[in-house]
Amino acid sequence: MGFIYALNFKMNKTPSQINEYMKSFDTLKNEVIICVPFTGIYEVAKNPKSAKVGAQNVSEFEKGAHTGEISAEMLSDLGVEYCIVGHSERRKDNHETDEMINLKIARLKEYNITPILCVGETEQTTFENAKNIVKKQLVDGLKNVTGNVIVAYEPVWAIGTGVVPTKEQIEQVTGFIKQELNAMNFNAKVLYGGSYNAKNYKEINTCKTVDGFLIGGASLKLDEMKILLEG
Ligand code: PGA
Repeated sequence: MGFIYALNFKMNKTPSQINEYMKSFDTLKNEVIICVPFTGIYEVAKNPKSAKVGAQNVSEFEKGAHTGEISAEMLSDLGVEYCIVGHSERRKDNHETDEMINLKIARLKEYNITPILCVGETEQTTFENAKNIVKKQLVDGLKNVTGNVIVAYEPVWAIGTGVVPTKEQIEQVTGFIKQELNAMNFNAKVLYGGSYNAKNYKEINTCKTVDGFLIGGASLKLDEMKILLEG
């Protein structure tokens, strides 16, 4: 089984730029999920090049008087099959709590959209501390949830910084996450995210407990993505 590559464009690229990107994009036969801003979803959906369409957020509400929100039903109608939830940037900038994240996951599940739940410690810390932090995020975020989920281990200190954990550290925490998910009866894929790029991918790809990657900055550049997808 190959890796899953989830691309996280964050708040980058206009619809026209995403359209251009998709014209030259090639999954190279990998399982690829492209998570773009809401405004670019249609541009991926109309020409997915065998990639899956992903969103980066969803409302915790079902519908109605929630100005500016986007519902799971709306995402589903556009062909979205995956959605990032609980990214650390949203936990920080939008004060998202584990309880809100849990509601968002429940909404996604109603429309068979697979959540990509992000977990990870904020500061560089001990394995013990990291375990406690991710365990709470998993237990609270996945309360009453069943079925398909993907979990992305993203140590916040590695996101966009160019600093990455050692291979051993990634294996320890992702191994722990797998063990916890098994205990919670999930057969979930676990991704690594945080400054995964063309400089470090060879080493990180050897992690035995990782099923794929959540890629931010490097996903914006087609030439770098090609290197990563070639493996
Ligand atoms: P990065 O972002 O690859 O730019 O570190 C990853 C993410 O935030 O999902």
